[in-house]
Amino acid sequence: MESKVRESAFRRKIKALIPFQIQKFLYNFIKKFRLAKNIAKNKYAKEDIKKFLTDAGIKKGDAVMLHSSLGRVGYVEGGADTIIEAFIEIIGEEGILIMPTFSAPEYDEKRKIYVFDVKKTPSYTGAIPETFRLRNGVKRSISPMHSVAAHGKKAGWLVQGHENCDNPYSMRGPFGKLYELNAKICQIGVDQLANSCIHIVEDKIKFPIKIFSDKIKAEIIDENGKKKIIWFRKHLDNLYKTRNNNILEKYLLEEKLMKIYPFGNTELRVHKVKDLVHLMEKLAKKGITIYNS
Ligand SMILES: CC(C)(COP(=O)(O)OP(=O)(O)OC[C@H]1O[C@@H](n2cnc3c(N)ncnc32)[C@H](O)[C@@H]1OP(=O)(O)O)[C@@H](O)C(=O)NCCC(=O)NCCS
Repeated sequence: MESKVRESAFRRKIKALIPFQIQKFLYNFIKKFRLAKNIAKNKYAKEDIKKFLTDAGIKKGDAVMLHSSLGRVGYVEGGADTIIEAFIEIIGEEGILIMPTFSAPEYDEKRKIYVFDVKKTPSYTGAIPETFRLRNGVKRSISPMHSVAAHGKKAGWLVQGHENCDNPYSMRGPFGKLYELNAKICQIGVDQLANSCIHIVEDKIKFPIKIFSDKIKAEIIDENGKKKIIWFRKHLDNLYKTRNNNILEKYLLEEKLMKIYPFGNTELRVHKVKDLVHLMEKLAKKGITIYNS
């Protein structure tokens, strides 16, 4: 099946030639046109969303890490909240819904320090995570650039301690806990370009290349408004130049570790954290990583 989501090599080459600001301008224009078309032609209610999810095997008690593009689904009545509620109503309180709420924290030039406020710093990972993190009962981890938000009985446990981890993908932090839970990775309208669990392996094994920066100072503000100084790491800046996450699509599909389901106008990818991590460990042993393909 031709993927509606995966970027072709041709498109990637064209994109590389267009300055980022122009790409952003063009994408905003495309989004407006797409939304108007969807309002007229492709509307989905909560029950439709729940049916797409149950058809893809999502069930009560599941741990789900969700990456999403709302705009690619079609017009969703009730917007981001409808998608969030559909998941919560299916997996229930025993289940756990997690989303990346990654952010570009403010930089205080005077004090030469990043400032991350768990309540106020916005995420850039889309309308669904941004709506999710602000909902009652949702917990957000403290990590200046790589926080996650979670809902369900285990949410507090999952987000706890991210600020004390050596790096954002530490096996001791929320991403290690996703591995422990063997969470399902659900990707609505996005491919491996937007899959943060691909970085778990970078902490779990002795990774063949240097990935993380030296420690950077940040002031964090917790949900009670209490301030604290921490040190965090991020990915080295040069890595994005050679990174090709989508080599994983081929292996995940060839080894039958991921399934692609219809989801409104787009696709829903479903796979599991342990399968992904074990596949990447195996590939790393053969010298294959997302940074050298
Ligand atoms: C970047 C990304 C979020 C962009 O996707 P998108 O669909 O354009 O944007 P969002 O998911 O924020 O959805 C908002 C858009 O949906 C559309 N929209 C608005 N209301 C809607 C509704 N009720 N129903 C459907 N679409 C709607 C609008 O076009 C809106 O754009 P606007 O906010 O500029 O008006 C997406 O491509 C992506 O990468 N997602 C995954 C991010 C991630 O998890 N990264 C992990 C770290 S690597």
